[in-house]
Amino acid sequence: MVSDIRLYTEQEFHQKAQQYSAVLSSRGVSVNIESIEKLNSRFLRLNPELALCVDADGLWLCANGMKMQPDWNAEMGRLKRASIKSEMIARACNLAEKPSLIDATAGLGHDSLLMAHLGAQVTLVERHPILFTLLEDSHQRAQQDAFLSAVVARIELVFSDSADYLIEQAQQQQVFDVVYLDPMFPQRDQNQQAVKKQAQVKKQMQLLHMLLPEDGEMDLGDNLLALAQKVARRVVVKRPRLAVFLANTEPQHQWQGDACRFDAYFQHELVA
Ligand SMILES: C[S@@+](CC[C@H](N)C(=O)[O-])C[C@H]1O[C@@H](n2cnc3c(N)ncnc32)[C@H](O)[C@@H]1O
Repeated sequence: MVSDIRLYTEQEFHQKAQQYSAVLSSRGVSVNIESIEKLNSRFLRLNPELALCVDADGLWLCANGMKMQPDWNAEMGRLKRASIKSEMIARACNLAEKPSLIDATAGLGHDSLLMAHLGAQVTLVERHPILFTLLEDSHQRAQQDAFLSAVVARIELVFSDSADYLIEQAQQQQVFDVVYLDPMFPQRDQNQQAVKKQAQVKKQMQLLHMLLPEDGEMDLGDNLLALAQKVARRVVVKRPRLAVFLANTEPQHQWQGDACRFDAYFQHELVA
């Protein structure tokens, strides 16, 4: 996991950069702030290594001339078009029932944003300190927006490894309606067709893959399934369409889409 990172900023945003740096340092990331004259696309192209940057729009991850942040504003169009009927994830997670839901693999938080918009009460768990800080920043910005503020009011952020978080919930005998899992999946993997789809990962996902560990050491999240089953009546796992099952465990139900599928595991015996 990245524990040292450079952060570029223009003089105007230096104070803001220092605030992010203090937060990241409290989460174990040492930040080296570099004040630069102009933080523009030319600068980012000339400095292609993985770094952070701060501008008027907050904190960004940058690399290879690109920059990205969990851009929840950009998701607004999708949210406004979405409905319980049209979204497969809504059927898989039974969002019509407005469930209590742990998204144990937050990433950019896009799935959770949609699920919260469609009625779920979401606890969003992310263990990566930089991603978590990016998420926190997006969450705060969304609170300023008239439409998004109602959505993010249903999202609580937790900085933790989900394995620890789920064990804690089980110890406290907490029961949730749903645990949602979308662990990283290798680019080159068992399934060649899945690989072709994965090769088209969006810009944002490319940067996410640079931040997170490479294939060899990638944590595929197999350990999360059994832990999730202890605390949720329904565990839903998002997978590339043709990927192997999480923890090699066959689900009780599947929803198949063009690029991905949702596998569901039910624990009807769990009661709150
Ligand atoms: C494929 S991304 C999830 C994308 C997400 N569904 C979205 O809509 O943006 C997987 C994320 O899960 C996180 N993750 C994986 N295992 C985790 C764990 N045990 N605890 C917390 N976060 C974890 C990774 O750091 C990564 O950010």
